[in-house]
Amino acid sequence: MAKEKSSPAKASADRENLMEKIVSLCKRRGFVYPGSEIYGGLANTYDYGPLGVELKKNIKNLWWKYFIHDKGDMVGLDGGIISSQRIWQASGHVQNFKDPLVECKKCHKRFRPDKLKDSSKCPECGGEFTVEKQFSLLFKAMIGPVEGDQTLAYLRGETAQNIFINFKNILQSTNVKIPFGIGQMGKAFRNEITTGNFIFRTIEFEQMEIEYFISPKADWNKIFDQWVDYIHNFMDIIGLDKKMMHDEEIPEKERAFYSKRTIDMEYDFPFGQDELWAIAYRTDYDLKQHQQHAEEDLRYFDTETKEKYIPHVIEPTFGVDRTILAILTTAYKEEDVNGEKRVVLKLHPNVAPYKIAVFPLLRNKPDIVKKANEVHDNLKDKFNVFWDDRGNIGKRYRYQDEIGTPYCVTVDFETLEKDNSVTVRDRDSMKQERVPIEKLKDYFNSKLN
Ligand code: GAP
Repeated sequence: MAKEKSSPAKASADRENLMEKIVSLCKRRGFVYPGSEIYGGLANTYDYGPLGVELKKNIKNLWWKYFIHDKGDMVGLDGGIISSQRIWQASGHVQNFKDPLVECKKCHKRFRPDKLKDSSKCPECGGEFTVEKQFSLLFKAMIGPVEGDQTLAYLRGETAQNIFINFKNILQSTNVKIPFGIGQMGKAFRNEITTGNFIFRTIEFEQMEIEYFISPKADWNKIFDQWVDYIHNFMDIIGLDKKMMHDEEIPEKERAFYSKRTIDMEYDFPFGQDELWAIAYRTDYDLKQHQQHAEEDLRYFDTETKEKYIPHVIEPTFGVDRTILAILTTAYKEEDVNGEKRVVLKLHPNVAPYKIAVFPLLRNKPDIVKKANEVHDNLKDKFNVFWDDRGNIGKRYRYQDEIGTPYCVTVDFETLEKDNSVTVRDRDSMKQERVPIEKLKDYFNSKLN
């Protein structure tokens, strides 16, 4: 029995099951839905539901606070998605942003050969592949209503380019001094051949990116390593497990065309270890390219040394959707409670969609409902609070466990008749304690902040 438990086949089946369970929970509870679902779906697109959007906003707000506000030498940007084709010609993406593609001659399914375990035959039907071709990941967008008279633009393939093309604007309109960074978050689009791992690789996704500008004379390796440490500490803030993160130094021939050093920060996903975030040393490649193609002086003038130069950049980059997947797969637990299975998302309170759920013990007792409403209204100006008066308490706890709410508060007969206190139940330990209503805000302030 013990042998079977540890066998590689069993472990692999368990991991596959975990992905299925997470996809199902996401749909059932409103984290993530398949895109365009009522029209039969659109492959590799997803919509975030009421809980997913809260989780996503929490991650993005925490990222913005930690990387832009708290670091002290950062400013933000929110650039456009539709962008001039000239940007992508200058950046090298039109030429180089390509992936290999093969098609099965029998079932006509398409694959990226570099992502297949055995690229000599089709994994679906064993058929023979066509000759490998390169295809562009950039999404074309045609501007103008009249066909034949339209301008070709691109949906941005990375948010980073907005930063480079606004570098001069930011220098001229703010008081930044090198070294400093510009961060931005938002959608990016890529015509990907995906492997079907849910929101891991999609054609529309969100990035949070930083370009950190340094002098060409700076010790870039040292700054690079400092950034790696700073990024690792962010994992604690959002509840990722550092033991599941593996920094992989990428050899030269596998690096993106613009990078002189790259570390892929790979996480243990249920389908195996794969890239969650990354950090690259992009040198002065992008600014130089834009300076040449746009014929704009993008040099920085150092007021102390009186030197003019094109800065170099260190680029930490984060995928929002992959971060969500990593958080969900880390937090998902199944526990045996008195012979019954309990599904619980042990989300870090910082990212949990709701921090507290408030219940009246019974929905048909107006005094209890009134009191519970008061408790709910009192907490909701500080925390995102869920109201639930459906079913019985056991069912409400199970629901809140599944969506990762750290605390549940129940107003009951004792509240009214005895001591004006409520029952607070902790999601992880399942322990309950009585807390006076007047101390409830302080209690949660200390637990949640
Ligand atoms: N500016 C650098 C850049 O875009 P990248 O490694 O291609 O580098 C950065 O992408 C991050 O964006 C990745 O680490 C990943 O988290 C996320 N990402 C990339 N492609 C994605 C896709 N198709 N779906 C979801 N996330 C993706």
